[in-house]
Amino acid sequence: MSVLHIDDLRTSLTLNGRQHHAVREVNFRIEEGETVAVVGESGCGKSMLAMSIMGLLPSIAVVTDGHVVLEGKPIERESERQMEAIRGARIGMIFQEPMTALNPVLTVGEQIAEPLRDHLGLSRSEARRRAIALMERVRIPSAASRYDSYPHEFSGGMRQRVVIALAIACGPRLLIADEPTTALDVTVQRQILDLLDMLQDDGRMAMMLITHNLGIVAAHADRVVVMYGGDMVESAPVRALFRNPAHPYSRALLASLPRVDRDLSELASIPGRVPPLTRLPDGCRFIDRCPHAMKICQALPPRVPVADDAEHEVRCWLHVEGSGRDASAG
Ligand SMILES: Nc1ncnc2c1ncn2[C@@H]1O[C@H](COP(=O)(O)OP(=O)(O)OP(=O)(O)O)[C@@H](O)[C@H]1O
Ligand code: SF4
Ligand SMILES: [Mg+2]
Repeated sequence: MSVLHIDDLRTSLTLNGRQHHAVREVNFRIEEGETVAVVGESGCGKSMLAMSIMGLLPSIAVVTDGHVVLEGKPIERESERQMEAIRGARIGMIFQEPMTALNPVLTVGEQIAEPLRDHLGLSRSEARRRAIALMERVRIPSAASRYDSYPHEFSGGMRQRVVIALAIACGPRLLIADEPTTALDVTVQRQILDLLDMLQDDGRMAMMLITHNLGIVAAHADRVVVMYGGDMVESAPVRALFRNPAHPYSRALLASLPRVDRDLSELASIPGRVPPLTRLPDGCRFIDRCPHAMKICQALPPRVPVADDAEHEVRCWLHVEGSGRDASAG
C-alpha cells in the first residue's frame, strides 16, 4: 500500500462566480521511504496540490473530484477536526518561510512539545524531554538550554530546524515540504536537505518535496512530477526524466538549465509564462507555448506510458499513437 496516492485529483477555485481548475486530474503515488519532487514554474499549482492534500485550501477552493488516499484511506472529505488530527500526527509539513510557521510569542520548546501533548498525550515533563531529544535530532546545538528561546533568537537555518522538529514530532508517515529551503542561503540549504534525507531514512517516511531547483531534484528525489497550469504533465523516476524527458515542457525546463542548480523562477528559454487560472486553455495547458502544438491539442491529452515504462507517464498528444506526430518529435 502506498503511503500517499493522489488519485485523479481536481481542485477548483471560484473566481468571479466561475470555477477554475487549479489542479486537474493529478495522479501519482509516494511509497514508504520515497521522495517525490514536484516541479514547475511559479503558478503551476504545486502549493494548491499540497494544500489539497493537507486540507488547508483557502475558502474559495475545493476538491471537486478524485481522492487523496493516505495509507489506503481517502481523506479528501474528512472533517476539519479529523484533518487537524491527521496533520498533527500522520502528515508533517514544512513551508518555505520558517517564521510564519512558528508562533513568535511561544518558546520553540513549547511549540515542539505542544503536538506531543495534544496528539500523543504525553505529560508536560515527558513532552519537554521528547522535545529536547527532537531538537538534538535536528542538530540544534545546546538543545536543552535553547528550549526556552523564542523564534526570533534563532538564525533562519536554525528556525527551519525547529520547524522540521515540529513537523516530525509525532512520527508522521508523510512529510510535505513546500520549498523548504528557498529562503535560505546555499550552504544552509544543503544542510537542511541532508537533514531531511537523514530523518527520512531513519523513519522510512514518504516525502513530497516541492522545489524550483532541479539540482535539488537530482540530488534528493527518487521520482519527479512535473506540473504545468495545474496539470501533471509528466511523472518519472528522476533518472528517466533527466535522460529522456518526454513532455515538451519538461524538455524546455531541462534545456533552459545548462546548470542544474539554476532556479526555475529564472527561466528565460521558454517564451511566455504560465497563464493565470482564468485564462488556462481547456485542452493541453501548454498549447500557447508549445513548439509542437497541433489541432488535436485543443483537447486534453490522455496520460500515456513512455517507452513502455509504467513508471514514466506523460500527458501529451505527441505520445499518443496515431495523433499526427511521432514521439521522437522535438
Ligand atoms: N487564494 C487564491 N486566490 C486566487 N488564486 C489563487 C489563490 N491561490 C492560488 N491561486 C492561483 O492558483 C494557481 C496555482 O497557484 P499555486 O500557489 O498552487 O502555484 P505554485 O506552483 O505553488 O507557485 P509558486 O512556485 O510560485 O509557489 C495560480 O494561478 C495562482 O494564482
Ligand atoms: S499536447 Fe500538444 S500542445 Fe500540449 S505539449 Fe503535447 S504537443 Fe504540445
Ligand atoms: Mg507555491
